[in-house]
Amino acid sequence: MCAAGTEEGLYRTSQINNRRYLGNKYKLLPFITRVVEEECGAIASVADLFAGTGAVSSAFANRVLVTNDLMYSNYICNFAWFGAEPYEPRRIVDAVVRYNALRDGGENYMTGNFADTYFSRADCGKIGWIREDIERSYEGGEINGRERAILITALLYAMDRIAKTCGHYDSYRRGAEFEQSLELSVPLAAVDNNPENRCFNEDANELVKRITADLVYIDPPYNSRQYCDTYHLLENVARWRKPQVFGVAKKMDRSGMKSKYCTRGAAEALQALIRDVRARYILLSYNNMAEKGNDRSNAKISDEDIFRILGQKGRVQVFSEGYRAFSAGKSEITENAERLFLCTCFDEER
Ligand SMILES: C[S@@+](CC[C@H](N)C(=O)[O-])C[C@H]1O[C@@H](n2cnc3c(N)ncnc32)[C@H](O)[C@@H]1O
Repeated sequence: MCAAGTEEGLYRTSQINNRRYLGNKYKLLPFITRVVEEECGAIASVADLFAGTGAVSSAFANRVLVTNDLMYSNYICNFAWFGAEPYEPRRIVDAVVRYNALRDGGENYMTGNFADTYFSRADCGKIGWIREDIERSYEGGEINGRERAILITALLYAMDRIAKTCGHYDSYRRGAEFEQSLELSVPLAAVDNNPENRCFNEDANELVKRITADLVYIDPPYNSRQYCDTYHLLENVARWRKPQVFGVAKKMDRSGMKSKYCTRGAAEALQALIRDVRARYILLSYNNMAEKGNDRSNAKISDEDIFRILGQKGRVQVFSEGYRAFSAGKSEITENAERLFLCTCFDEER
């Protein structure tokens, strides 16, 4: 993050990677782009079907992009960064400066449900007030859909910076001080994205039936940890339907948001997905944690299944880059490899 000047004062700016997210591939972009550059011919379009933060899409921002994620909070960030709709940067700066000058957001859905949990009562007041104001400005026609998405993204990134968690919203650190207070930064989203870019918020297995791309990148969850559980609070604020929340972690009802890729049905889901892909190349990221960590971190799809499924679609090559990782729930460090499975599809004509 860095600071920039305005007539009103200073504001910070943020980039796509200024957020914590499980399985985020930002650090692997040199590896991913090297494999694509060396192994695939000219690529004019990329579909990132499990886009998460959109980090991988950002490496292909000069191509036509399709982004997709099951979570609305990721869809909204992807639309902010890559959306085809033009926007007026001045409106974002003005709103961010105004939001950061807010002293007291009063009582609202956030104070009523989350005061002094993940955020202080004062910050909950501000988060609720700002989220409400974004919706009011959009409904009143003062900002367009892309500006709404960029402001929600600015709010989610600001929440992530100060949340009293270790990045996941399964629990908060009780008794710890609230060290920082909410400050939004201006996301430096390109104004001139490709007009053909499209962003979706649906099950990849459904979307894949309606799109084509030169390269389809697939980065599904690989273990039983559901993203809607881990990031329920960001999802709640992004959707802003103000549902009832339950339990110590204050989670909303998440039925209908669960991913098949976190269940025993993962291999079957991947098989159906790959069958429906229409692309010249499929690039799959899949961790090698099968039977290595604890039960929860074990990979849901075996290497055997991956080779079998991709092998039915084309010629398969594997590339790997090793790194050392902590296995969740255990304190020892395991040798881990991030692997890319590249499938050159038999039917390249499409
Ligand atoms: C490993 S993360 C992707 C990380 C991403 N490549 C990045 O760099 O930020 C997996 C993502 O898949 C999404 N997801 C899970 N099941 C899905 C499905 N059936 N369709 C679309 N997205 C899904 C999750 O919400 C999560 O954001």
